[in-house]
Amino acid sequence: MKNWIISSSEEISGDVQVASDKSISHRAVMLAALSDAECEISNFLDGEDCLATLAAFSAMGIKYERAGSNLKIYGKGLRGLTAPSSALDFGNSGTGMRLMMGVLAGQKFNSTLIGDSSLMKRPMRRVSEPLALMGAQILTTEKGTAPVQITGAALTAIDFSLPVASAQLKSALMFAALYADGTTTIRETLGVSRDHSERMFSAFALDIIEESTAEGKIIKVRGGKNPQACDVAVPGDISSAAFFIVAGLIAKTGKIVLRDVGINPTRAAVIDILKMMGGRIELRNIRNRAGEEVADIEVLPSELRGINIPAKFVPIAIDEFPILFIAASCATGITTAEKIGELRVKESDRLGLMEENLRRLGIECEAGLETMKIVGKAGNNGEFVAFRGGEIKTCGDHRIAMSFSVASLRAAAEIKIIDCENVATSFPNFLEIAQKTGLKIKEISE
Ligand code: S3P
Repeated sequence: MKNWIISSSEEISGDVQVASDKSISHRAVMLAALSDAECEISNFLDGEDCLATLAAFSAMGIKYERAGSNLKIYGKGLRGLTAPSSALDFGNSGTGMRLMMGVLAGQKFNSTLIGDSSLMKRPMRRVSEPLALMGAQILTTEKGTAPVQITGAALTAIDFSLPVASAQLKSALMFAALYADGTTTIRETLGVSRDHSERMFSAFALDIIEESTAEGKIIKVRGGKNPQACDVAVPGDISSAAFFIVAGLIAKTGKIVLRDVGINPTRAAVIDILKMMGGRIELRNIRNRAGEEVADIEVLPSELRGINIPAKFVPIAIDEFPILFIAASCATGITTAEKIGELRVKESDRLGLMEENLRRLGIECEAGLETMKIVGKAGNNGEFVAFRGGEIKTCGDHRIAMSFSVASLRAAAEIKIIDCENVATSFPNFLEIAQKTGLKIKEISE
């Protein structure tokens, strides 16, 4: 097992390129493989999650070539996939498994989807049940978990309101819609979720219409048309950048600049939240790259204050809550968040695990079923240090590991983080960048 030992440090500085966007890399592979010709994906994330999606397509007859972070995929059209000879393994990736349920439901062959011990515990019925309304034949375990067994079936369009603000569910339905007879309507009434699929469906010249209405956003996708081959330039991942944004804010000294980070407004609420907390964050050189907004993010040490995180930000900052809780611990006053129950069904129960670990490091906090309250440590005695040292349990969750490594910038003593291997699922060179910018992390195998 790989563990990290982190000694306290106070400065973070540097000019860095964070990992490529995971959500966009997954979608790029999927649309490229289903497109009518070859597509170049530049700055592809070579994290384990996206490589699992690539391996799944390879097992279904799709050819690709990799040169560094450039990936060329030879698309074979919507009907070009062939039956895999064994179960498709999505490792730790909920996005991979859930979106692929949408791709595979309408095939003319059967497939089985599996994953690691974390993914095999995550809810899959939220996707299989709406797909069943389209005619999909999908079996899960009694608990609604993987293995997911899909019998290829003919699909028909539906009109469906999302019961949870989930981009994974929305995207699974959009992929299935490509195979359905007619036009599928998806209503996003419970809050906006990341819109990378919508943007990329347009870039691949698919028939997609987006409408804004009083009840929320409506997406219409007409089936039967092959995605038209298109090159994709993947921006840096705001969810990965978030660790260094918070590091830059809670450090005593230094300045960090994060280059080429995606700031799509349906993804980047972490910036709004941290600015509300008093964070000194500047977006520079804002530009558009292949249909996504990108910027360089400059961060300076800041005096943060606790806030009530507005519920509208929850789905569009959902992966950033673990690191936001670290920021809240270093703020003055109380931070609260509501309607964050989805955190309980991520790679780990992030709400429960953050509460347990924060308490272990001396932070007063309380997680409810769907809420969190954190009493910030700053200013109590005018002290800079917020955390005591201690041992952190990650349950193999990459974002828990990275979050607590950042806490070392305000820790009185060494923090040991157990089981950090899965950081490679989303941010393979995190350790290198963290060390280069000032965190005193050592990796040990035990
Ligand atoms: C993702 C959507 C989110 C997010 C996940 C990536 C995506 O999940 O937590 O890391 O790429 O669509 P939900 O759709 O379950 O909220």
